[in-house]
Amino acid sequence: MVQATAIACSNIAFIKYWGNRDATLRLPLNNSISMNLDSATTTTTVAFDPALDDDVVVIGDQVAQGRHRARVVAHLERVRALARIATRARVHSRNNFPMGAGIASSASAFAALSLAATRAAGLELSERELSMLARQGSGSACRSIPGGFVEWYAGSTSAESYAVQLAPPSFWDLRDVIAVVSTTEKSVGSTDGHAAALSSHFFAERLAALPARLARVRHALAARDLPALGIASEEDAIELHLIAMTSRPPIFYWSPGTVRVIQAVQCWRAEGLAVYFTLDAGPNVHLLCHARDADTVVARVREIPEVLQVIVNAPGGAARLVDEHLF
Ligand code: PMV
Repeated sequence: MVQATAIACSNIAFIKYWGNRDATLRLPLNNSISMNLDSATTTTTVAFDPALDDDVVVIGDQVAQGRHRARVVAHLERVRALARIATRARVHSRNNFPMGAGIASSASAFAALSLAATRAAGLELSERELSMLARQGSGSACRSIPGGFVEWYAGSTSAESYAVQLAPPSFWDLRDVIAVVSTTEKSVGSTDGHAAALSSHFFAERLAALPARLARVRHALAARDLPALGIASEEDAIELHLIAMTSRPPIFYWSPGTVRVIQAVQCWRAEGLAVYFTLDAGPNVHLLCHARDADTVVARVREIPEVLQVIVNAPGGAARLVDEHLF
């Protein structure tokens, strides 16, 4: 029995993945661009064990059941098919941040699972192959395989749909300060959100606007231009939520704290602080700022009564193997 343990960062998208061309293969309708988050990680240990009758999945301290377990088992099936084995596996996974609250836990989870499970099964996949595999577990997970600033090519086939590094973590000392305003699991998961997205009549408009916005974000990254990156990220986050709210049936991810933080960001910016917001499919607000302003942003965010927790992230590295196993 060979154990392998991997650690992967979550990521925050500046240009979001929202809506699939193929839901089963998780082929998106648009490219997306993100930054890995060094303080929001998942560590996962996998061992394929001939003594097991069934897969055992432990997330945090709990044996996973229902849809959480089913998603992990489906991913193990992909790995078993690649490795041509039938052996069942033991999987232990641990996040250092709350699950299902707008900090993409599925991104770090399926990136770490893909690397740990393939190694435990004796496979050595390339970064591109790992990214393609992670994508099938959770779309945004493909962007947590490379390090730093990353673009996911939508592609039109599975082999064309994977993520690549645009710049390493050291390229830009940017910060993502997460203002956590809720830690409860969201009522509509992103899988259902993607499916509903196409029913919003704003969906086609966003899709048409994206090539120009993607180009703006690529240029902003290359030039380390925070205002340009921040404005494009805010536009895209607002459009994702506009689409969610106008999907049929509508999906509301915001809580009162979400609006409080967004309005505070607008005030601070008017006063001269370079801070911009973005959101995932959840209520928590991600604040983008320069490293030199992070302490100021954290201090101000902590003063907002709805903010329960603040997590400061620098650009994170690629998914990697580690020697300390969880069992
Ligand atoms: O990877 P999924 O299916 O959880 O989708 C994530 C979608 C967003 O987080 C809302 C946007 C993104 O690109 O990360």
